[in-house]
Amino acid sequence: MSAVIQTTKLSKVYESAWGGQDVHALKELDLTVLPGEIFAYLGPNGSGKTTTIKMLLGLIFPSSGEIEILGSKDISSSKVKRNIGYLPEGAYYPDFLRGEEILRYYGKLYGLRGADLERRIDQVIETVGMTHARSRLLRGYSKGMRQRIGLAQALISDPQILILDEPTTGLDPIARKEIRDILAHLRDNGKTLLISSHELLEVELISNRVGILYQGVLQAFGDMDSLLTNRDISINVSNPPAAALAILEEKGIRKEDEAGGSAKLRVPEGMSVYDALELCKSQSIQLVSVAPRRETLEELFVRTVGAAEAKEKVAQ
Ligand SMILES: Nc1ncnc2c1ncn2[C@@H]1O[C@H](COP(=O)(O)OP(=O)(O)OP(=O)(O)O)[C@@H](O)[C@H]1O
Ligand SMILES: [Mg+2]
Repeated sequence: MSAVIQTTKLSKVYESAWGGQDVHALKELDLTVLPGEIFAYLGPNGSGKTTTIKMLLGLIFPSSGEIEILGSKDISSSKVKRNIGYLPEGAYYPDFLRGEEILRYYGKLYGLRGADLERRIDQVIETVGMTHARSRLLRGYSKGMRQRIGLAQALISDPQILILDEPTTGLDPIARKEIRDILAHLRDNGKTLLISSHELLEVELISNRVGILYQGVLQAFGDMDSLLTNRDISINVSNPPAAALAILEEKGIRKEDEAGGSAKLRVPEGMSVYDALELCKSQSIQLVSVAPRRETLEELFVRTVGAAEAKEKVAQ
């Protein structure tokens, strides 16, 4: 499958104007985004996500390395430009305009005119669920409504690729879910999405693949399913006596959390589930359920960034 976005050894150094230290914001990034996927581009603050995105959009230039988008190395060509929709981090639009006016403005920038433009505005407003508020002033929009208009703006040229920098930041849980559903719907209709976000729970629910950046270096990259490798087994028990838990703990079975009289025990790596259940039985602990537990994206993130930090400390 040929990549929609491909970077090869992409690097960016922000040079200091005042004799201070240069910032190596991105170091030899090899990134592949495949057609029809949601790619989650993650990393702590200042790790280089927005820098990468700005280079993909041609807003800033690489210090070295290459970018190929839709098979073209000329990313300033109109074919590439009209096929990328972009929602900037904390997108700002003038308050005195109406939702549909913003879309009209952006549509014209893409060369749309007349009936084609109006049809397209109708379509994108419908996609983001803003038909009811399309002629209201932005001043009266909630954060979620602004974000939807931002998304509609990114969709106006019917691009193949959507690049969204923190699309759900600051939204309430319902608005987040709605935006998430829209993004999944766009993916299911053949769009390719690159999403940068700190909302790992959101991202985990919709992404196919993930890249985790730390200090400009890609630390983990691949399929969500194959990266979330640490799978283990939880045993849920009811009202376990403290003494029994202490004995289990000696054998390596840790209590993970406890609430409302039940507790979750984690079977350590290398111990068979049968042995763990035997131990529970020997302590007359009442079982509720036994369930596999997959690592969460948040755990993968913390593990990956933690390991990168530790490596850096050793190197210093
Ligand atoms: N115009 C600039 N001039 C100098 N340094 C910059 C510039 N823009 C970004 N940087 C630096 O580059 C590094 C990467 O910043 P970037 O904005 O790409 O991070 P990010 O991953 O998007 O972070 P966040 O999650 O906070 O949005 C940071 O150290 C930042 O201070
Ligand atoms: Mg950023």
